[in-house]
Amino acid sequence: MTTQAERPRPQLDAWVEKTRAGITAGRFPARAFNDQAVYDLEQERLFSRAWCFLAHESEIPSPGDYVTRSIGNNNLIVARDEHGDIHASLNMCRHRGNVMCKTEMGNASHFRCSYHGWTYKNSGELIGVPYMKEGYESRLRRKDWALVRVRIDTYEGLVFGTLDPEAPTLAEYLGDFRFYLDLYLKHGLDGVEVHGPPDHWIADTDWKICAENFAGDGYHTPVAHQWGFNLGYFPSSGSTHSQGWAVSVPGKGHGIGLGHSPGFPAFGGFPDDLAEEMKQALTPEQVQVFARTRTAVGTVFPNLSFLMQPFSLVPGEPGVRFVTMRLYHPAGPGRMEMYSWCLVPKSASPEYKAEAYRAYTLAFGQAGTFEQDDFENWTKVTRSAGSTMVKDLDFPYVMGMESEPDPDFPGPGRAVTPYVNDTNFRNLWSRWGDYLAGEA
Ligand code: FES
Ligand SMILES: [Fe+2]
Repeated sequence: MTTQAERPRPQLDAWVEKTRAGITAGRFPARAFNDQAVYDLEQERLFSRAWCFLAHESEIPSPGDYVTRSIGNNNLIVARDEHGDIHASLNMCRHRGNVMCKTEMGNASHFRCSYHGWTYKNSGELIGVPYMKEGYESRLRRKDWALVRVRIDTYEGLVFGTLDPEAPTLAEYLGDFRFYLDLYLKHGLDGVEVHGPPDHWIADTDWKICAENFAGDGYHTPVAHQWGFNLGYFPSSGSTHSQGWAVSVPGKGHGIGLGHSPGFPAFGGFPDDLAEEMKQALTPEQVQVFARTRTAVGTVFPNLSFLMQPFSLVPGEPGVRFVTMRLYHPAGPGRMEMYSWCLVPKSASPEYKAEAYRAYTLAFGQAGTFEQDDFENWTKVTRSAGSTMVKDLDFPYVMGMESEPDPDFPGPGRAVTPYVNDTNFRNLWSRWGDYLAGEA
């Protein structure tokens, strides 16, 4: 296996520059989807500097609640302390580096290391050192050896972290994409909450294929998910190819596809009271953009995605509209940990929450029919990308090269129509290229 250390850096930097020029011209290298050197560079220059999603606040609602999540190859404890504040700390004992917390979620006021017994508060302070007086005499000050703290920030319940103290604020990082995130995060007057723990599994798939797909790949929908159409799971009149917009936030990497279907009712798939709440929670401009949207699928650069879509077991009926949030955490070249949540409005009825979760599970849970369709394709793409013949092959990203932004679109960003378009993907990979070149 080739590693970054074995590959001379100038050669890799030259490849990055060639790749960036290719993205501008509408090409992207297959190799990027499964390559040790690219993976290592992403760890060093992208995941160590971008804002990365950690958790939704509702996963840790009470003092002591925690989850363990990662930024790049760094495992973190994300915990709510006794005062209600959220902290993210490197999940590593400062004594000899043992993993402090070995479970994915739980509740604890303290973490005690299983090696020599150093004990930390859930906020990260070191408070217990066995044999302190006799062994260390006065040479160890507890306050110097707290768990390593990671900078965090939140937007509408989403907790992000960054390893870069110089990174811009989260608000600046998300930029105009907050307008579109609100569709998923404000579809109720009190915001949203996770419905149960995430589905979490390992896949032999590169994170970038998923991030791209969810940045608005309406092209694959009628093909990869044709059985969804055939069986009537999609309450639509047919093709998703032509109607709606692909919206990107230039310079930020974020993008969303807003698909429309003729005849699909405004705010269809939601109970009437919830549809009313959405209209109140959103701005008039947001209502104008989202009222006719049937499917909204978007990616926050680099690897957090959202999907809102209806799912129907009764052909012709609007069905139930659900929201899923997913994180594609890189776990090696061509390999990732997948997290998938169902988000529901806090204020919704227990009946709607249960129905939305059922629709989500059937469509996009780990064994969901659409999830299976996607991973079958994504795993094969990844496998191809790792083979020796693809080293110098590119894929075409030329769809919509000449598309002009729609001047009448009422939302921010660069909106092009029709929805099936590579504009969002060029924007996504262009930002990725900025980070890999060290220029973000
Ligand atoms: S490694 Fe944790 S106490 Fe020694
Ligand atoms: Fe899909």
